[in-house]
Amino acid sequence: MTQSLTLTRPDDWHLHLRDGDMLRAVLPETARDFGRAIIMPNLVPPVVTAAQAGAYRDRILAALPEGMAFEPLMTLYLTEETDPEDVAAAHASGLVKAVKLYPAGATTNSASGVTDFEKVRPVLEKMAEIGLPLCTHGEVTDHDIDIFDREAVFIDRVLDPIRRATPGLRVVMEHITTANAADYVRSQEADLGATITTHHLIINRNHILVGGIKPHYYCLPVAKREEHRLALRAAATSGDARFFLGTDSAPHTDANKLQPCGCAGCFTASNTMPLLAHVFEEEDALEQLERFASKNGPAFYRLPENDRQITLVKQDAPVRFPEKIDTPDGPVTVFDPGFDVYWSTES
Ligand code: DOR
Ligand code: ZN
Repeated sequence: MTQSLTLTRPDDWHLHLRDGDMLRAVLPETARDFGRAIIMPNLVPPVVTAAQAGAYRDRILAALPEGMAFEPLMTLYLTEETDPEDVAAAHASGLVKAVKLYPAGATTNSASGVTDFEKVRPVLEKMAEIGLPLCTHGEVTDHDIDIFDREAVFIDRVLDPIRRATPGLRVVMEHITTANAADYVRSQEADLGATITTHHLIINRNHILVGGIKPHYYCLPVAKREEHRLALRAAATSGDARFFLGTDSAPHTDANKLQPCGCAGCFTASNTMPLLAHVFEEEDALEQLERFASKNGPAFYRLPENDRQITLVKQDAPVRFPEKIDTPDGPVTVFDPGFDVYWSTES
């Protein structure tokens, strides 16, 4: 029997759209199912000023196909030169919804990120004053810290000290991958939320490395042990308002993924909602999917929920998703969960 589930239309609270041809190719994949998305600013060069964010927003809207509705929520890339007054003006105008902290060298296009956190203190203080959230890529970059420990060490050495030094700063821990991060979020009283990706609910580090290396499962922060994947599933399906969806869908062409030094990123924009329905059903928590994907995020960002809806339908036979999307730069592989999925969306 066909089962269907109608939800408030979801938002994606962490998305990479890139620019130019790639933007035009990937934007419809998100706009089909989502009302809004927090747009990551790690372009080359990065989106640092309000003027750059405004121009990028215009390019995104120009790339939206006729008849599709979608609202990009813009962010600024935090550098040691960021001007607190520019940030405040961008917030006051309604253009910018968050500022993104990349520790320098942590991930794709993060070279302009922060090395000396003292230098960004005036910006963080201004953000605390005006209530503008800070989105964090929560990994330290120290060479002596094992890549699987970098998120947990970031919480102790960077995030907790910043939050203690800046009371009232609202922080989103992006794409959390560990039980440590979920526990930290729960242990705090206010001003802290976390996004969880679709793929980190599905893969652990064995999926990347056992039986041959799987470059399409490589992303940052890298997937951790199974116990962490289970902790993320528990957080996402709990209904706790502090956890919400941020796909971190990050398109790279196959040529850039499948090489001796392959890029980090999983492209989940095309099939996220069906995959989440599968995961939440497996956890016997389908009734919590709307909170995770459509309600908790707007509440954290103090925005209204979407007016429109989305319907998920459970089919009798496995749904076939496109394996790749074509772009003028070359194909981008869509995340393959490695199991049959019976859910599809009707937007
Ligand atoms: O896997 C990732 N890809 N993690 C990030 O933090 C950045 C992203 C990208 O931009 O490709
Ligand atoms: Zn990202």
